[in-house]
Amino acid sequence: MSRTVYVNGEYLPEAEATVSIFDRGFLMADGVYEVTSVLGGKLLDFDGHFARLERSLRELDMACPVTKDELLAIHRELVAQNGIDEGMVYLQVTRGNPGDRDFSFPDPATTPSTLVLFTQSKPGLADNPTAKTGIKVISIEDIRWGRRDIKTVQLLYPSMGKMMAKKAGCDDAWMVEDGFVTEGTSNNAYIVKGGRIITRNLGTDILHGITRAAVLRMAQEAQMEIEERPFTVAEAQAADEAFFTSASAFVLPVVEIDGAAVGTGAPGPVAARLREIYLDESRKTAV
Ligand code: PDD
Repeated sequence: MSRTVYVNGEYLPEAEATVSIFDRGFLMADGVYEVTSVLGGKLLDFDGHFARLERSLRELDMACPVTKDELLAIHRELVAQNGIDEGMVYLQVTRGNPGDRDFSFPDPATTPSTLVLFTQSKPGLADNPTAKTGIKVISIEDIRWGRRDIKTVQLLYPSMGKMMAKKAGCDDAWMVEDGFVTEGTSNNAYIVKGGRIITRNLGTDILHGITRAAVLRMAQEAQMEIEERPFTVAEAQAADEAFFTSASAFVLPVVEIDGAAVGTGAPGPVAARLREIYLDESRKTAV
């Protein structure tokens, strides 16, 4: 079934929605994005995603083309028009179409940014069977650029990492820099040791996950111990549990790293509890 998508102020059938070949998102990966999950037809953590979008745009000297209220209305309209019960809304803002290829940024007064949104229907998103089995990851070197805190559309290396994982018979790759895990190809990484949740501290070397912030806040409220610091692959392999978080996967267990079983080799109780708390709380606050 054809989706209705949003491009620069218009709601269109997906086959009729177009962006210029000169768009800087296409030529330069000069753009940022957000992925917001939908459960029960409502948006999870919309405030957090909007705040991070504003930050990404600010860091790249781009203006936000719409207000928060307008963006929420566009999200809701697309969810309604496409009958999304469980799934995601993808949003992308690029530095627009200056009409030619040029390394210099165009003048925003004459080149407005491009805003595109579309939905992805994922029935069963919250009931993902992987939560009961866990995933296997490999470790790869992190050779991405140095501003991973900005959610840009430069996703070639993360895509390559996913392919390397698939080739190795695994589900994802955890990236490693200077001996320490940074994050997964499209998620934040955690281990659990002696009941303590360990995850890399925020900086420019990882994306500041919206799910990460929510899960850590909920873990703290549940009196769980948290340590924000880098960890190695060896430490992860020797941990009691490992898991990852992202807007589209929520909390999912990792049961194997580079062929070594984590803990018992089965999903652990901390990841299961955090998934449950996160889904419960998020449904309550969804908009
Ligand atoms: N990925 N780290 C990276 C590199 C990511 O791409 C993502 C999100 C995260 C988790 O952030 P959040 O909890 O805000 O989703 C961490 C999205 C889901 C994607 O690219 O599809």
